[in-house]
Amino acid sequence: MKKILVTGGLGYIGSHTVVELQNEGFEVVIIDNLSNTTIEVLDRITSITGIKPEFEQIDLKNKKDVQQFFKNYSIDGVIHFAASKAVGESVEEPLMYYENNIATLTYLLQEMNANNVRNFIFSSSCTVYGQADKLPITEDAPTKPAESPYGATKKMGEIIIEDTSKVTGLRAIALRYFNPIGAHKSAKIGELPIGVPQNLIPYVVQTAAGIRECLSVFGDDYNTPDGTAIRDYIHVVDLAKAHIAALNRLLENKNKANCEFFNIGTGKGSSVLEVVNAFEKATGKNVNYKIVDRRAGDITAAYANTSLANKELGWKAELDLEEALRSSWKWQESL
Ligand code: WQD
Repeated sequence: MKKILVTGGLGYIGSHTVVELQNEGFEVVIIDNLSNTTIEVLDRITSITGIKPEFEQIDLKNKKDVQQFFKNYSIDGVIHFAASKAVGESVEEPLMYYENNIATLTYLLQEMNANNVRNFIFSSSCTVYGQADKLPITEDAPTKPAESPYGATKKMGEIIIEDTSKVTGLRAIALRYFNPIGAHKSAKIGELPIGVPQNLIPYVVQTAAGIRECLSVFGDDYNTPDGTAIRDYIHVVDLAKAHIAALNRLLENKNKANCEFFNIGTGKGSSVLEVVNAFEKATGKNVNYKIVDRRAGDITAAYANTSLANKELGWKAELDLEEALRSSWKWQESL
């Protein structure tokens, strides 16, 4: 049985990926510092799969703890989710973001190298493309200057990993996620709401639940069919499965370069108003909304060309927007 380290494995995407790893017969050890989740998620994962993953409460900023971890465990591959992810906060606290997302990445890669752990999957983001010149976006689209320190950490992370893979024997895959949404069908794990949601779907769901009064739709004067901005919303369970496909590619030596990049999206763009309508249709719940000014830093449209992931990873999104929104609603009700 292969043993996989999942950093940030109690977070939103991490917890869904742990479930899929266990479903596929991998042994999982989780590192999490619990900065943006709770230990209860470990029991939730266990109740879904029937297997309790090993868990170490470690903050990757503590290099000595990372060193000790690799002395204690023999690891076949690492899926690295642990990072801070709030765009606005990153503008206020850039150094915190560079320490949390970049310093920790260097420690992890150093200790992997020191212990001959070669297989690495990185949580990257479509944010590296900025507003792409061509849609749908292919992996060879040029990256654009980051709009925030958070975005910069994803771009820099890719560079750090690629540079390292040129000299250490590291074999890496960076998955560029589009907009992850939804929750596990059991409604036992999902995105934990902390404070006022910044992302669209949590805000829609909380508005439908009466926690928020009204959704602000940020701009209806974009150059799109209905004037609202377009994104590629991908079900978190499909996204989790993309990690298994990427991991298997490395474990089976099928990778074609030491560092590879794949878009992980559905390939379909949906506007903000389309999302609101799809949510109402999927759940029968009403969402109050009003149109307000654009949000600073937002782009007009982004959706993935997923041909490379389809062909090379043998992976394709299977769940559609309505199903994802229904699962988000079910998760909200469970809370
Ligand atoms: C989607 C659309 C908003 C909230 C961000 C990060 C990205 C990524 C995911 C995270 C946009 C509109 C939103 C609201 C709205 N990384 N919107 N009212 O901005 O595409 O991506 O989150 O880990 O790096 O930038 O996602 O969900 O915030 O917004 O109208 O209350 O919904 O303007 O068009 P975004 P989002």
